[in-house]
Amino acid sequence: MKVFHRAQDLQRYLSNLRTNNRSVGFVPTMGALHQGHLSLVELSRLKNQVTVVSIFVNPTQFNDAADLEKYPRTPGKDIELLDTVGCEVVFLPTVEEVYPNGLDQKIQALDFGQLEKVMEGAMRPGHFAGVAHVVERLLDLTRPDRLYMGQKDYQQVAIIRSMIAQREIDVKLVVGPTVREVDGLAMSSRNVRLNENLRDRAAELSRVLSDAKSAILAGGLPPEVAARSSDLLAALPGFKVEYFEVFDGDSLQPVSEAKAESIVIALAVWVGDVRLIDNVIVR
Ligand code: PAF
Repeated sequence: MKVFHRAQDLQRYLSNLRTNNRSVGFVPTMGALHQGHLSLVELSRLKNQVTVVSIFVNPTQFNDAADLEKYPRTPGKDIELLDTVGCEVVFLPTVEEVYPNGLDQKIQALDFGQLEKVMEGAMRPGHFAGVAHVVERLLDLTRPDRLYMGQKDYQQVAIIRSMIAQREIDVKLVVGPTVREVDGLAMSSRNVRLNENLRDRAAELSRVLSDAKSAILAGGLPPEVAARSSDLLAALPGFKVEYFEVFDGDSLQPVSEAKAESIVIALAVWVGDVRLIDNVIVR
């Protein structure tokens, strides 16, 4: 496995591969890798001769300095894990490599319209501009055939799909399913920050999501199901609900009818001092 720290070295290595017609799959990450990330590497390896994983805790997508500081960083362990799944290339850049002109360099703005006015976009101002900026930069450096992202960040995927379309980038976006712990908790780099007691109870998030899905499939009205589910979670000690939304999977706008063509349910909940997100596709 090759590990690169400098953009130039990565680009040189990949351009040699491309002249030999090797297809490249790319998995962008912020490290603290778990089975969810590794499943994306495995998906990529099924279709591409070379899989590149980037590990970069991107400062521009954190609107809370404390969250950026607390974000787990485990590069040594990450590299070992990537080796076990046969990843060929790891890119571990410094902030200067990714942002050579400084963190607040101006780029031509993207317009995500309503996609970024709801849920994560509403709660974390500037978050998606930072995510889109870094993914655009990483795509420019790696020029992959396929980009792999996880369904767990449903809204992030919608934003990246829109960025790819707006910038007319020639890459296929592949979305991998959410990987869960045995009790249903969606895998996340943030889970390691839950104490034992909260870790056990955090499985309530996926339980409530899956009950909400069943209720809607049984004809329950989305706004009522959302309100009931949100109340259930809010009543749990140490839990604080930021949002619990039932929405159209493309526009991300709320749906009111159980019969709607496309329905996704997503939540963001503070469990103790750890903010977790999860979602489930109803149809
Ligand atoms: O999902 C993440 O880990 C990050 O938002 C991403 C896509 C790697 C961009 O920094």
